[in-house]
Amino acid sequence: MESKDRDLERRVVPFRAKVVEPIRLLPRVERQEAMVAAGLNMFNLKAEDVYIDLLTDSGTGAMSTRQMSAMMSGDESYAGSRSYRHMAETFQELTGLPYLIPSHQGRGAERVLNSVLITRDAVVPGNSHFDTTKAHIEVAGGRCVDCTIDAGMDTQAEHPFKGNVDLAKLEECFECYGAKQMAYVLITVTCNSGGGQPVSMENIRTVSQFAKDRGVTVFFDAARFAENAYFIKQREEGYADKSVREIVWEMFSHVDGCTMSSKKDAIVPMGGLIAMRDEGLYEALKTPTILYEGFYTYGGMSGMVMEALAQGLRDVVEEDYLCHRIGQAALLGQWLEEADVPVVKPVGGHAVFIDGRMFYPEVPEDEFPAQLVCVELYREGGVRPVEVGANLIGRDPDTGENIRPTLDLCRLAIPRRVYAGEHFEYVVDVARAVRQEQKARRRGLTFAKEADGIRHFSSTFRFL
Ligand code: F0G
Repeated sequence: MESKDRDLERRVVPFRAKVVEPIRLLPRVERQEAMVAAGLNMFNLKAEDVYIDLLTDSGTGAMSTRQMSAMMSGDESYAGSRSYRHMAETFQELTGLPYLIPSHQGRGAERVLNSVLITRDAVVPGNSHFDTTKAHIEVAGGRCVDCTIDAGMDTQAEHPFKGNVDLAKLEECFECYGAKQMAYVLITVTCNSGGGQPVSMENIRTVSQFAKDRGVTVFFDAARFAENAYFIKQREEGYADKSVREIVWEMFSHVDGCTMSSKKDAIVPMGGLIAMRDEGLYEALKTPTILYEGFYTYGGMSGMVMEALAQGLRDVVEEDYLCHRIGQAALLGQWLEEADVPVVKPVGGHAVFIDGRMFYPEVPEDEFPAQLVCVELYREGGVRPVEVGANLIGRDPDTGENIRPTLDLCRLAIPRRVYAGEHFEYVVDVARAVRQEQKARRRGLTFAKEADGIRHFSSTFRFL
């Protein structure tokens, strides 16, 4: 009886729809035309031509009734807004970090923080830095060193914490550059670039102790902190009986601060923040915040969004929400696997990643197999994923050569509280059909026009 109850609990969907947004599937011919007109680039599609939009889980979540009602009390004062204090207090209650700087989104926070912490030739070791994070560190004159464990690079390795930092690699980095060169250590929870993979508490604790012993600070990129905490509860010994709130508190107790895109685990369409323990750093961040983001009690957010963010932080640590959320990603992964679609394992928190090279084993690695999976999922069924692979990674700035990434992935990101099981059954049918019909495909894509700089968003392709 008890196990039957547990099974029922696992299947609970802890929300229902009160407002709906119509979506539609374009006829096949029109989908084909739309994809060609977009130059085979997902970012060039009109959103209304997409049936199921899995481009990102960023800013695409559905707000709760509690968030919507909190918005009505938003204080839009230019300085000293009550909503700012409310947001900062809520964040402190959750994490213990006492100082908070708001920003318009995650990369705004990254720009402000790195403009202060990075000096020429500074090094930031971490676990697969997100691309905007890496770019901001580099623009400020620094360099990122990826110290993710090897299992994190193997799409088929079953490891519970594939986002972990490899201590030996970290040590080597410190030895190579010297502790003085280290601006800070950055732990991304969960690790997006590695497939939404979590970092264990043990790893967080060990890494932060290692850095502390050498006088170096540790920051989180905390975009998906609650999902990481839930994985710790599920997978790490000693945490099953702790609440997600307790785990979140403990995670943050090990770090000196964080940047955060609030468009993910704070479930708001726009917003970000920097939080920290050091008052001196907080004071130093005020001026760049004013220059780049706005006054430091709104930083690019409205009072309404700051209220929604505060409530979003409370919503996201609710265990029935996280159980459903993480379960939804796991189920999509399982269904895809059953449909002979190769996915990164174990499935991460916010997305399922299809391995492009395994999906199209005959397509040469230089012909963008993962981008091809994206294109074909849209053409087959109006589903929009995004490539995280050879196109995204770009060229080596020194040699000009295309970098061949370890992983060439097609990401199906899951917006929070938006799609139901039926939507995902449909996605699986679409992926199954493409895989069955095209397994033996031999040719991929080449650039029609490769954009300068960040080429992911605006380059166009043609079929070979
Ligand atoms: N850090 C991580 C781990 C992210 O995933 C993102 C954004 C950012 C920082 C930057 O935040 O978009 O608010 O400026 N990830 C989005 C995605 C874009 O689709 O994964 P932002």
